[in-house]
Amino acid sequence: MNIYYICLLKILLIISFNQAKVIEKQSDTCREILGDDLIREIGSYENVRDEILRYVIEGDFKGKTYDELAKFVDKFGARPSGSEALENSIDYIIDITRAEGLNDVITEELEVPHWTRGEESITMLQPRVKNLSVLGLGTSVSTPPEGITAEVVVISDFAELENSQEEDIKGKIVLYNPMYTSYGATTPYRTQGATRAAAKGAVASLVRSLGPFSINSPHTGAQTYGENVTQIPTAAITLEDADLIRRITARGEKVILKIEMSSSYDTKISRNTIVDLKGRENPESLVIVSGHIDSWDVGQGAMDDGGGVFISWAAPVILKRLNLQPRRTIRSIFWTAEEVGLVGAYAYEEKHRDENHNINFIMESDVGTFAPLGLSVAANQEARCIIAEILKLFESINASTLVESNSAGPDIDVITNTGIPGAGLHNDNARYFWFHHTEGDTMNVEDEHELDLGAAFWTAVAYIIADISVDIPR
Ligand SMILES: *[C@@H]1O[C@H](CO)[C@@H](O)[C@H](O)[C@H]1NC(C)=O
Ligand SMILES: *[C@@H]1O[C@H](CO)[C@@H](O)[C@H](O)[C@H]1NC(C)=O
Ligand SMILES: *[C@@H]1O[C@H](CO)[C@@H](O)[C@H](O)[C@H]1NC(C)=O
Ligand SMILES: [Zn+2]
Repeated sequence: MNIYYICLLKILLIISFNQAKVIEKQSDTCREILGDDLIREIGSYENVRDEILRYVIEGDFKGKTYDELAKFVDKFGARPSGSEALENSIDYIIDITRAEGLNDVITEELEVPHWTRGEESITMLQPRVKNLSVLGLGTSVSTPPEGITAEVVVISDFAELENSQEEDIKGKIVLYNPMYTSYGATTPYRTQGATRAAAKGAVASLVRSLGPFSINSPHTGAQTYGENVTQIPTAAITLEDADLIRRITARGEKVILKIEMSSSYDTKISRNTIVDLKGRENPESLVIVSGHIDSWDVGQGAMDDGGGVFISWAAPVILKRLNLQPRRTIRSIFWTAEEVGLVGAYAYEEKHRDENHNINFIMESDVGTFAPLGLSVAANQEARCIIAEILKLFESINASTLVESNSAGPDIDVITNTGIPGAGLHNDNARYFWFHHTEGDTMNVEDEHELDLGAAFWTAVAYIIADISVDIPR
């Protein structure tokens, strides 16, 4: 072995030794915080865990979550905010819940945006004629009937926009072409792009679809117009077309596009749906599991967020079928109108603000229901120690990772931001943003066995948190 390898080996050993020390120190701290009795109590849930995992993964519930999700998705398809399909899908999920003998189901009405996509097309006219795949962004205004024909200016980030001369932007179509690093980092180009381009005099704005991978698939999503700026039409184009336009303009050639878009906007009444499996000792105390039942108008909303809704639907159903009634209440919430600005979650938080101290823990699954890996937890250290100890019970299905996060889920952040502890489903979702908000969000993304693992994990974790002798600290 030469000296280089010996050094490398030493460095690796030191790194892994230090990591091991950090982990050991954390678990020492947790051991102190929890105490032997609580650790023993949490460990004693292994029998319940086994019962739930067996029933869902190998027993009578095997394949049920996938089947129910498929029936739902096939029947209603896309469920955009304000649509009849969404309201019908809510009626349907109430029916299948009651059919399981869960009669504690209520809905709460609220006003939601109803934006409807009309005809949309973008044609490149120069340097050659080519049709582009396009999806208007939610709340985009229409173009004039004759469309908008203008030159494109490609912008890689907001700093470049702010530094450009007004004459370079005025009268043009701005194309934001930020390379995808993460959803969080690139989302502002979709949500604020039109407003910022309009402030510089652009006549329309386009965004490179937010995603790492594409088969000519545009991704839609929400955007909002700022105050006092002209509302310009705004849409997403594919990674392929964004790169094509970038290459052509980088060669000094002009790209001219013709954009035609139409849409309409009004408001409708929708509903949050709340299913309770009442606790046996502290029914006022809530452990919430949730997902959002609305989707974008493209695709089928199977992944976003049908999967999250159906593992959250499964939790009280499975517990009811197994006759497992925890100490606290398990509440399933199917949020409405998430995609158009977390409208259902805000309405719930406001309506229940006086009783939000009763929320012991809140969970949401909205980043895919691929194989579960653990939980992404927004809570203080003491709470994290309890959750980490519970997650140890899920080593057999590789779902014992605790990711520390300041965001537990888009809807529930409305509640966790007030200091209530919560978590999202941490899952093997590297492909999530391939399909998100596209025509590709169909049942083919979902896997029967992974949904079983997710439903079993979600149910067992919620049960244990709802049943242990201590509240989750906040
Ligand atoms: C673009 O789409 C239009 C309308 O669908 C069609 O008539 C036209 O032939 C297409 N153009 C090209 C170059 O494919
Ligand atoms: C928009 O204009 C109104 C009226 O002039 C003003 O009160 C408000 O502060 C402006 N909003 C923004 C974001 O500039
Ligand atoms: C857990 O991970 C191990 C190693 O990657 C793998 O062999 C095993 O099949 C996984 N178990 C489950 C239930 O996915
Ligand atoms: Zn979602």
